[in-house]
Amino acid sequence: MSQSAMPRPLQRVLTGITTTGTLHLGNYVGAVRPAILASQEAGVESFFFMADYHALIKCDDPERINRSRLEIAAIWLAAGLDTSRVTFYRQSDIPEIPELTWLLTCVTSKGQMNRAHAYKGATDANAAAGEDLDAGVTMGLYSYPILMAADILMFNAHRVPVGRDQVQHIEMTRDVAQRFNHLFGKGRDFFVLPEANVEEDVALLPGLDGRKMSKSYDNAIPLFEGGAKGLKEAIAHIVTDSKLPGEPKEPEGQTLVTIYDAFASAAQRQQFRADLRAGLAWGEAKQQLFDLIDAEIAPLRSRYEALMAQPELIEATLQEGAAKARAVAAPLLAELRHAVGLRSFAAPAAQVTAVKAAKAALPVFKQFREADGQFYFKLNAADGSPLLQSLGFAGGRDAGQWVARLKREGAAALAEAPVQLAAGVGAAAVAGALAALQASDAE
Ligand code: TRP
Repeated sequence: MSQSAMPRPLQRVLTGITTTGTLHLGNYVGAVRPAILASQEAGVESFFFMADYHALIKCDDPERINRSRLEIAAIWLAAGLDTSRVTFYRQSDIPEIPELTWLLTCVTSKGQMNRAHAYKGATDANAAAGEDLDAGVTMGLYSYPILMAADILMFNAHRVPVGRDQVQHIEMTRDVAQRFNHLFGKGRDFFVLPEANVEEDVALLPGLDGRKMSKSYDNAIPLFEGGAKGLKEAIAHIVTDSKLPGEPKEPEGQTLVTIYDAFASAAQRQQFRADLRAGLAWGEAKQQLFDLIDAEIAPLRSRYEALMAQPELIEATLQEGAAKARAVAAPLLAELRHAVGLRSFAAPAAQVTAVKAAKAALPVFKQFREADGQFYFKLNAADGSPLLQSLGFAGGRDAGQWVARLKREGAAALAEAPVQLAAGVGAAAVAGALAALQASDAE
């Protein structure tokens, strides 16, 4: 790595995915693939999460909510998300987020929420139908943008990659952040003002009928559902013109070609166009499109299937993510509570104490020597309950080196470490504790 003279500060990039359904090929091309690529850039610290509290606003089917968050987590992991670099979590595992939502709700003007697109869309539709303006509108829908602001501000994200329809929400986030900073910051900015990143050139993948690919248009190509066969069948339904085999075809503007482009190299794109102009049959073109997409998707599909068969692994990964996220969220929330006047009565230096307490709510390693003369270490959870204990070492240095390595490498070093988990403690809990230590170390 080259050492630049002026280190650029880390850019925090954060985005959430509402978990109400599963993802289609358009979501993969437009959101998952670019986000994973962006997370590999140097100087970027990424936070990706499943917006499952947001999902509750749109869906009251518990099975569907739960299934969707599992599938979407598996898709991101199968697509190659590196959770040692990226903080990957469920919104509902971070209790600091709804708490911050309330603090923000108290400084958000109702008039501004009246203008939020989702709410306005609902009232406009009611007006058109001659219904009561608020018919069918829940407070969840109404307050949707405030929960989203809390998602973003809780981690002080600089950049938020979103679709066009979400830009208004980022503007509202900036407003509420500014208002909070102004009211309670006493000259200090608690919150970074985030920028929306709308990827102009991320080609929106068209669906089977050429309109934007969307579940609601029933024109989506599934990502993994139905396997290779499902993919092939969907591709067979892509609408083309009625030119016969051998007839020259104009590739530009063809849905099939736009989808092909999203998976092809420049050379492949050129060749495909040349072949169509030379009379390639649509049936043959569809076969080529299938081969191209399946070459990229098939390895992901088998990882996806393996993950879906082991939901406990996904759970452990998300628990680690939640521990990392909370190591960032809890200290900030402690400061915010103090700033608005929710303080401990116990000590005058309550703020310092509260912030320290949040930071101290971390697991701890302890080293010690037993009567057998050997050196040991153990790891206790923040509440003091034991998580693991080492076997005996001849020297204190050996024990110390293992502690250092576990702190540095986290769960990755666990398999080799000469330790025993405490009774009733699972590997996921230990991995989460180590992740929390790593995250607080990185702060
Ligand atoms: N509202 C977003 C959507 O529907 C999902 C979301 C929730 C989100 N919280 C967020 C996106 C925070 C970015 C940042 O697409």
